[in-house]
Amino acid sequence: MAILKRVAETARPAVPFTLDGRACTALAGDTVLTAVLTQADCVRHSEFGGAPRAGFCMMGACQDCWMQLEDGARVRACSTSIAPGMRLRTTPLAPAAAPNTLAAAWPEDEAP
Ligand code: FES
Repeated sequence: MAILKRVAETARPAVPFTLDGRACTALAGDTVLTAVLTQADCVRHSEFGGAPRAGFCMMGACQDCWMQLEDGARVRACSTSIAPGMRLRTTPLAPAAAPNTLAAAWPEDEAP
């Protein structure tokens, strides 16, 4: 069940994406977090016990909203714009399915 309900700006162009393999539609200009939470009750399940997480600060500070793409790449949902064709997951891929991604440094930790 979605935890966000869109009440305004509904005339923006549609943006197709998938969430856990399910076809979904966001609106142009949505963040990944908005796109996902208008479709589902969480953006991910915690790697520490599986509890559902839906972000906390909504401004890129708390790191609670990281999601994984089907290719293993990660995005911070509250500060990343949805893009057509994004394939998002609420559960991380098994390490064998995405080698060198789960143990990789967070993107902002990488050298400039
Ligand atoms: S919700 Fe805090 S970093 Fe995204």
